[in-house]
Amino acid sequence: MSLVVHVTGARPNFPKAAPVLEALADYDVEQLLVHTGQHYDDAMSDIFFRQLGIAKPDVNLGVGSGAHGAQTAKVMIALEELFTQRRPDLVVVYGDVNSTVAAALVAAKLGITFAHVEAGLRSFDLTMPEEINRMVTDRLSDLLLTTSTDAIAHLGNEGTDPDRIHFVGNPMIDTLLKHRDRFDAAGVREQLGLEGDYIVATLHRPGNVDDPADVRELVAAVHAVADQAQVVIPLHPRGRARLEEAGFLDHDGMRVIDPLGYLEFMGLVRGAAAVVTDSGGVQEETTILGVPCLTLRPNTERPVTITHGTNQLVTRQTLPDRVREVLAAGRLETWPTPPLWDGQAGPRIAAVLAGSVGAGRRAEA
Ligand code: UD1
Ligand code: UDP
Repeated sequence: MSLVVHVTGARPNFPKAAPVLEALADYDVEQLLVHTGQHYDDAMSDIFFRQLGIAKPDVNLGVGSGAHGAQTAKVMIALEELFTQRRPDLVVVYGDVNSTVAAALVAAKLGITFAHVEAGLRSFDLTMPEEINRMVTDRLSDLLLTTSTDAIAHLGNEGTDPDRIHFVGNPMIDTLLKHRDRFDAAGVREQLGLEGDYIVATLHRPGNVDDPADVRELVAAVHAVADQAQVVIPLHPRGRARLEEAGFLDHDGMRVIDPLGYLEFMGLVRGAAAVVTDSGGVQEETTILGVPCLTLRPNTERPVTITHGTNQLVTRQTLPDRVREVLAAGRLETWPTPPLWDGQAGPRIAAVLAGSVGAGRRAEA
């Protein structure tokens, strides 16, 4: 039986991998789930496995945090050993984190076929570590599984063989739609003691939270939002100390909390008047939930969330005015959603993966 190895490691990987693991279980393949250990706090990792019903990883490489080179190298060393021992027939990598590119490099150098889920997204901003990870991963991928048509165009422009590109939709949205009934907006509101309109913010990109001058501007901009409505921030560990040193908490309207589990976070977002974010996944989730999303970045690799969703790009300077506008406008009644963000990406991806190793459906499936 063919061996398919899935490599995950950081928070955004888990809701993307869950529907693929589930759908591929219908095929005659052996699956091995690797967690690199890039994220390791319960709230950044294990809680996703419990809440989304993902089986415990078969292997945890335990690489932990570190500078980009060191972290990527640790994943590569451990994966090279694992892949050499187990000789997978297919490796599957997800998204754009350091664990993704590390697995891609190792698979490519060992001549192991590999598939990239969420291929072709481009911000064209090489100051983002994720953009480097995406470009390198896609250049080496044998199978490129895309969430949007702009991704297909980018891959085409880069000379990727069209036969290797498969437009499959968005597995993160499979997870959202599957668990939607468990997103308890009223329950989370009560738990956090929130009254009236509130805004959810998530901020962790180096471009926002690494440089002290940026952090000072960011704090002022978010405080100007908190003048208008309470701001709830499940704060990613990156940059937390710098934000707090810059007086992030010194405003009555600011509510900084630890990262939330997936279900609680989605409940919080579902009930929000608006979201301010620099996250990739959150731009997609708000698009499906119909929550206005203000993305605090100069660009996005997910433009489909602007053309077919609720997203707009803002700067630290324009953020307070844009918040005023979306609060005045209220939630949209109807809005377009991106093609194939329909809850069936997992089965489409599984069909491509199984086809590539010549596996059929299990008799009982
Ligand atoms: C990583 C991804 C980013 C993704 C984000 C999602 C890369 C290059 N970046 O960024 O694309 O948007 O995950 O959350 O792969 N830390 C903890 N506990 C943890 C994990 C991290 O405290 O469980 C702290 C450590 O201080 C660490 C810092 O967060 O140094 C950054 O972690 P790292 O995985 O390097 O990058 P992220 O900023 O999390
Ligand atoms: N998320 C969560 N709890 C939080 C913040 C985020 O469960 O407190 C989820 C949410 O579904 C989001 C995903 O984690 O889409 C990944 O988000 P993150 O911003 O960490 O990564 P990115 O998508 O920017 O790479």
